[in-house]
Amino acid sequence: MKGKVIAVANMKGGVGKTATVIGLAEALAAEGSEVLVIDLDPQANASICLAGSKMLKELIENGHTVDGYLTDRLFRKKDDIEFADCIRTHVSNVYHLNAQLPISLLASSSELRIVERDMLYRLSKSHTDIDWFVDRLHDLLRDQLKRTRKSYDYILFDCAPGISLLTEMSIRLANLVIVPTIPDFLSTYGLQTFCSNLRTGEMAKRTTLEKPKKPYVLVTRLRPINEHRHTVERLENEHLKDKPNFRLFETQIPERAAIAEALGKVDSWPSFSQKWKDTAGILESLSNETREALHGARS
Ligand SMILES: Nc1ncnc2c1ncn2[C@@H]1O[C@H](COP(=O)(O)OP(=O)(O)OP(=O)(O)O)[C@@H](O)[C@H]1O
Ligand SMILES: [Mg+2]
Repeated sequence: MKGKVIAVANMKGGVGKTATVIGLAEALAAEGSEVLVIDLDPQANASICLAGSKMLKELIENGHTVDGYLTDRLFRKKDDIEFADCIRTHVSNVYHLNAQLPISLLASSSELRIVERDMLYRLSKSHTDIDWFVDRLHDLLRDQLKRTRKSYDYILFDCAPGISLLTEMSIRLANLVIVPTIPDFLSTYGLQTFCSNLRTGEMAKRTTLEKPKKPYVLVTRLRPINEHRHTVERLENEHLKDKPNFRLFETQIPERAAIAEALGKVDSWPSFSQKWKDTAGILESLSNETREALHGARS
């Protein structure tokens, strides 16, 4: 089935959202799937990891970014501009079985922060009803995803930390929401609230918007220390409860130098296994579980 949408999000910063997006995108692509990554974070970390510095500079200069798209569509009223006009195909610098991984990118830039702020500023200045605008943004993104998903097997959103309007929309429109979480006290502190808010917060009452699916927590940056072991046990117990707020991936991503180093390999041409070294197998198991979660076996 074409065009499954995956949002990778967590309120908390630095928990491995971008690492998950890049690793999962490359593992899915290495298995032959066409993958699109949409970067919704003004830090543009997924964009730089995938496009490298030269290509990203060119995309930003040409306005071929999420913020470029939103500015044209919402502020310059260019009604015919599509995601496809801003997507860069064949971005990956990674090879597998002698072929470039089939990954495309809708990049982001630091301007996205300004665009998101300007949206709210313009709304309040023009006394526009926020609910009307939220519906419009939701319909716009849903429509663009509908047009885009035909060309891809998987579309992954890399969300910024926090819960911006764009993050909320991507979560609502996703077939699968992955919440990467470091298994320690602070990283899991707001997890329950984040997961339940997705389904019960103010916006959840709006019947015009899609209802978010129950999120899947992915343990990331796992270290062999008691704090992490105990927190994983707690997460496993939570998820076995009668009505858990989240599901839990069996795959766990360990804290490994190989993963941090892989994310830094932006301007070289490694193979998938050279890039991820001994963590390549873990990414393959994450991609298998993701397919299972999306195609029904575990939903
Ligand atoms: N499994 C891992 N092992 C070792 N280092 C990791 C791992 N996952 C992520 N990192 C490193 O931790 C840092 C944060 O990771 P990442 O950028 O993926 O988190 P994030 O949740 O996307 O952050 P942000 O909230 O700022 O977007 C990065 O420097 C990355 O290289
Ligand atoms: Mg990130």
